[in-house]
Amino acid sequence: MIAMQPVKIEAIIRPEKFEEVKRSLEEAGYTALTVYEVRGRGEQRGIELEYRGHRIRVELLPKLKLEIVVPSIEDAEKAARIIMEAARTGKPGDGRIFLIPVLKAYKIRTGEETP
Ligand SMILES: Nc1ncnc2c1ncn2[C@@H]1O[C@H](COP(=O)(O)OP(=O)(O)OP(=O)(O)O)[C@@H](O)[C@H]1O
Ligand SMILES: [Mg+2]
Repeated sequence: MIAMQPVKIEAIIRPEKFEEVKRSLEEAGYTALTVYEVRGRGEQRGIELEYRGHRIRVELLPKLKLEIVVPSIEDAEKAARIIMEAARTGKPGDGRIFLIPVLKAYKIRTGEETP
């Protein structure tokens, strides 16, 4: 049997969508995750706000980055679809998802090789 290639999902989402994303992933059996507070920008280079009559460009917006390692590309595509459904508002800034191959994953407690 050919060993499965684990995949790391990196998802950058709106912070206010985190609870919904987490719940939807959990319902599908994806419980383990790492979350970071990050700042970033996409194609629109941030947003323009009106503040006391001045237009101010906020270049870097607060986002959350999730990292989830799953056993296979099939799992990664399934989890990515779940994240997209839960995190989408339809407006610019909904985020991005990247799938990255993982060479190996270990569980420290047991030494076992497992995603
Ligand atoms: N190419 C990229 N590489 C790394 N991070 C990115 C990239 N594009 C977007 N991001 C991250 O994702 C966040 C959200 O991006 P955003 O949803 O605005 O992407 P977009 O491509 O501009 O899509 P949209 O047109 O829907 O706004 C950014 O703030 C940034 O942190
Ligand atoms: Mg954008």
